Amino acid sequence: SFPTRRSSDLSCLNSYSQREGKGAEMMMKGALFDLDGVLADTASLHFKAWRKLAKENFGRSLPDELENKTRGISRSDSLSVILDYLEITVSKAKFHRLAEEKNQIYRNFLTDLSPDEVLPGMRDFITDLRKKGILTALASASQNGPFILERTGLSKYFNAIVDPSKIEAGKPAPDIYLAATAALELSPKECVGFEDAVSGIQSLKAAGIVSVGIGSDHEVGQADLRFSSTGDINFDDVEEIWAEITNNA
Ligand code: BG6
Ligand code: MG
Repeated sequence: SFPTRRSSDLSCLNSYSQREGKGAEMMMKGALFDLDGVLADTASLHFKAWRKLAKENFGRSLPDELENKTRGISRSDSLSVILDYLEITVSKAKFHRLAEEKNQIYRNFLTDLSPDEVLPGMRDFITDLRKKGILTALASASQNGPFILERTGLSKYFNAIVDPSKIEAGKPAPDIYLAATAALELSPKECVGFEDAVSGIQSLKAAGIVSVGIGSDHEVGQADLRFSSTGDINFDDVEEIWAEITNNA
């Protein structure tokens, strides 16, 4: 059977071709990333923007628990969740205006966005993955993804960026992560995904991709492996859980 602790023999691998497995053994070849709350410290700004929108348009406050429910899902899906909570029905045109206004508020919060907003350890972690020959893709629901990658200086670390506007069913459906594996020309089994949202973990699971959650048990307890914060992510632990799941399946 396949050994699960392979950190020592991996440390000498430094190119994609060297990561070809021997015989039928599989190697981890792709890392798929969510953006907000995984790479960039922008997750809470989305909910801050929704709160401002609800206050300004309806004079209403939003409870903390809505943050977890809107994390990871598209702008329009988030707006539906919020309007449901508020028990407010709006016309299609008004819905569109509200979504647009939320994005304006959110973009204003990003005015000073810089490499300082890369979450702790993530630049080094991706650099290390790439040195090991692992391909990287962005699978974020955010249409602001390319802008945020540019402003934080992270664009150059990605082999592929999925355009969420071309994905019919958003997270928790598997589509966006399947599109990311396809963009890297890898199978879901060869990849691992990093997420801070319940919807994102569900999306990875539905796609058959090993999932790493970042956050509390309440937020990402369903993940195959969980780290409390990005600073705790450790390649050997990720590789070990990936090998264990993939080679025992
Ligand atoms: C996700 C966030 O990354 O992007 C969600 O977790 C957000 O909260 C979604 O709704 C869509 O973002 P945007 O930038 O397209 O409104
Ligand atoms: Mg996220």
